[in-house]
Amino acid sequence: MTTDLEKNHLERVESLLDSMSLEEKAGQLSQYFYLQVPGQDKFLEAELRAGRVGSFLFVTDPTKINSLQRIAVEETRLGIPLLFGFDVIHGFRTIFPVPLGMAASWDPKLYEQVQATAAREARAVGIHWAFAPMLDIARDPRWGRIVEGAGEDPYLGARMAEAQVRGFQGETLGSAGHIIAGPKHYVGYGAALGGRDYDEVNLSESELRNVYLPPFAAGVAAGAGNIMTSYVGIGGVPGAADRRLITEVLRGELGFKGFVVSDAASVVDLVTHGFARDERDAAVRALSAGLDMEMWLGLQFGAGANPGPKQGAFATLPAAVEAGELDEKQLNEAVRRILLLKIQLGLFEQPYVDLDGIQTTFGDPAHRETARVAAERSAVLLRNEGNKLPLDRTKLRSIAVIGPLADNKMATLGPWVFAQGLGATVTVLDGLKNAAGDNLKIEFASGIPLPSRAIPSPFAGMAEALGSTAPGVSTDDFDEVEEFKRAVELARSSEVAVVVLGETDDMNGESASRSTLDLPGRQLELLEAVAATGTPVVLVLIGGRPLDLRRASQLTSAILLGWHPGSEGGNALARLLFGDAVPGGKLPVSWPRSVGQVPVIYSRLNSHQPHTASKRYWEEESTPLYPFGFGLTYGQVEYSNLTLNSTNIGLNETVTASVEVHNPSGKQIEEVVQLYIHQRYGRAARPVRELKGFERITLAPGEKRTLSFEIPSSARRYWSATEQNYVLDETTFDVWVGGSSAADLHAEFTVKEG
Ligand code: GLC
Repeated sequence: MTTDLEKNHLERVESLLDSMSLEEKAGQLSQYFYLQVPGQDKFLEAELRAGRVGSFLFVTDPTKINSLQRIAVEETRLGIPLLFGFDVIHGFRTIFPVPLGMAASWDPKLYEQVQATAAREARAVGIHWAFAPMLDIARDPRWGRIVEGAGEDPYLGARMAEAQVRGFQGETLGSAGHIIAGPKHYVGYGAALGGRDYDEVNLSESELRNVYLPPFAAGVAAGAGNIMTSYVGIGGVPGAADRRLITEVLRGELGFKGFVVSDAASVVDLVTHGFARDERDAAVRALSAGLDMEMWLGLQFGAGANPGPKQGAFATLPAAVEAGELDEKQLNEAVRRILLLKIQLGLFEQPYVDLDGIQTTFGDPAHRETARVAAERSAVLLRNEGNKLPLDRTKLRSIAVIGPLADNKMATLGPWVFAQGLGATVTVLDGLKNAAGDNLKIEFASGIPLPSRAIPSPFAGMAEALGSTAPGVSTDDFDEVEEFKRAVELARSSEVAVVVLGETDDMNGESASRSTLDLPGRQLELLEAVAATGTPVVLVLIGGRPLDLRRASQLTSAILLGWHPGSEGGNALARLLFGDAVPGGKLPVSWPRSVGQVPVIYSRLNSHQPHTASKRYWEEESTPLYPFGFGLTYGQVEYSNLTLNSTNIGLNETVTASVEVHNPSGKQIEEVVQLYIHQRYGRAARPVRELKGFERITLAPGEKRTLSFEIPSSARRYWSATEQNYVLDETTFDVWVGGSSAADLHAEFTVKEG
């Protein structure tokens, strides 16, 4: 039923549409990067005045946003306001843990709060739209963008997807202090061959629908206003022009009502892919597939291209319509979606941003408090032999903090951070000093230079252009031999060595795939030398992907995985190390022993001789070093009394599982209670385990709690290759509940038609 307001919006759209030229229509579908590249700004402002630009991205300065908006509203024929988008991935001014870290919190409510905070800060400077959440399921840690998503599991990914969309958008599109959520990259990008970013993806329909699609379905169901297509495609059809996936699946099956934007340059790229004949063919086929907006660099693109401003492929649409290659109706459909959105956001009434309120928003102490809590709840305690942690601040007199990442602000923040509040970043060293108190000496030694990529990031220049190179440890001017010795001596003379190792901010993210999972540079050598002093070692891991910890886990009694923990990361990790906060994060990815195991997932299929599943390689165990869903806390957790409300149910009925969780330890503990199912037989072999429920809880010393989880038919439905449709089987299910995917408390139920 259409409300009066909706009727009013639709009427305004139609009257605008009737007055627009073909060029102005194509302009509304054209989004340009606005980078500080000499010459590009004048070109773009001229295009804007001519009515050939509908949106910009990468403008974060509110005065620049207002001045571009003023051109659009006051100097173009129709005065249609601009849409400003940006990569608000894990924070805007206040930076939160990277998405893979946030997924490790297993706390959707917290994630909603985090993205709501990020939205508030971004909206304050005039950004209307986040190119987030990134919903790509990732099962290959060589792929650098594994850091940007929620890991390997579709159920966890779906819960984190809906939470983020709610956080970004609020109750409805256009809510004050909120922005459009743009789930990406639709769909399957994380399955890139060999973990090589941008490489081809070959997915079966079952894999697509049972693994990669569910997070997008959840994001759409939560009301996402935008979807971004993937650089790569499935079966040789690039994401930007896949009519089946965009129009039939996304809009037809999932009911998506928003607008679809391409990834950067990926319409022009259709020619590069060998899919489109030329840019006009690319533009026509992308638009006909259901794409609404082209994201374009505004510059010549690709190796060997001569630099200089250039229009996008969508600039050819007017000629395509005039030549009869494209029906104007198709163009109008896309323009309608963009105009409707701009009306819904109130941009015609309030196109400009209020410059006065920005610092107040940025300075809200609640933002940093949320960042600290998020970093605490994202951290995963992987190892704690002999309960070395928490460190006793009242007894300890000296801690050596070792490693270049311990005091590097950009490594603490991680990828997709540009010039926002870098100076206020709290590193691990800062945090330990803040929390140590007067009697505990904290001394630092970098030991080795900051590790660097063998092949520089293609975005290095961009990060510096946007002011991201934060002051870290200047390791250019130290004598490597002397510094290494100094670090070892410092460890020898201290009671505990906190060694901070892992990845810098450019070692994961886009264009950051790896062919190894080794600790980069001389980090392991440093760890060996520090451990050889005999001083107990606590390893704090900073990074955005699983790394090879086989040797490191033998050298240390405790390993705390902090991810890239964000602006308050150092305070959060220090609080966890000293026991002021309790670790409870769980792995959102299986942690391989070595790169040779990749991909290794928990939800694999059974196959020939399952009892040998852990011995498939003759060199080493085939099981991960740490399983999906694993993480320790400062105490024990006991599970008992797993019961089902029924052990025989009808095909479409729901079964409810209940379990008792007990904290027998004398300390408060954190736990993520997880429920897994396995279908024993049916029209397809199904994974040995699938996550279908979880709840993060805090238990006081001695507390016992009963939790319940529903297993509805929707949790048992899957896409069947034989039926080429979603099915429910009459079968028997195993159920496990526990603190990781290796849970062993078991029950079972049978499903029968009728
Ligand atoms: C990038 C990424 C995409 C990002 C966009 C704008 O190349 O693939 O995730 O949102 O371009 O920066």
